[in-house]
Amino acid sequence: MVQKEYLGVDIGASGIKGAIVDIKKGELVSDRIRIPTPDPSTPKAVAKAFAQLVKEFGWENKFIGCGFPAIVKHGVAHTAANIHKSWIGTNIEKLFSEATGCEVLVKNDADVAGIAEMMFGVGKGAKGTVVIITVGSGLGSALFIDGQLLPNTEFGHFYLKGHNKVVEQYTSDGARKRQDLSWKVWGQRFDRYLQHIDLLLSPDLIVLGGGSSKKFEKYKKLITIETPVTPAQLLNNAGIIGAAVHAFQVEKTLEKSRV
Ligand code: BGC
Repeated sequence: MVQKEYLGVDIGASGIKGAIVDIKKGELVSDRIRIPTPDPSTPKAVAKAFAQLVKEFGWENKFIGCGFPAIVKHGVAHTAANIHKSWIGTNIEKLFSEATGCEVLVKNDADVAGIAEMMFGVGKGAKGTVVIITVGSGLGSALFIDGQLLPNTEFGHFYLKGHNKVVEQYTSDGARKRQDLSWKVWGQRFDRYLQHIDLLLSPDLIVLGGGSSKKFEKYKKLITIETPVTPAQLLNNAGIIGAAVHAFQVEKTLEKSRV
């Protein structure tokens, strides 16, 4: 029988965060535990930290959902913008499953955050085109069309006109901190980014997640597009909740295929 509580883990460039989630309510039912992402963030070091986190929850022989900051296809990382380059080609699911003895299911971090927002947050019931942008060390994205996810969109990795670096290096929260930008300057940059997203996709709604969603008040006046832009309701927990939901959805599918 599929259970209703799952461990969700969100792997970020600076922290690995996890909690047990009630996937029917979309709420954390345990404390949230955060451990720093090892530096260098090699597969071996991160797998060890991941296993340590799982152990702290006493989670054994069960399913775990995980959001990972890369293009993830069939459990394998295909890029590594904000983590160690040796992740490229690594089967994350296999590595983490072996490290924990659990069944670990991995998806792109922004995609799982998007899944949570669409189920429990501001995107609940939203039809049409919804884009979720996570603003943290990098820029992550999730695209939903009538509630259906198109995975691995990577809208932080295109170039704006005249730029020689991808857009996440111009207007992520990491870029704001590294370049010591005021909220005004950063907000104007972010608005330019949103204008481009708006032009490319004509979305019905744009949801902002990640660390910067908590700071929305500081830059919302600088946003000039007409499309509604709103901070994520689940804020920084969306990644954990969405990861847990992903584990539930995969387990449910497996159960069905067995009967
Ligand atoms: C990665 C994405 C990820 C985003 C947020 C980007 O650098 O390429 O896969 O979703 O950062 O972590």
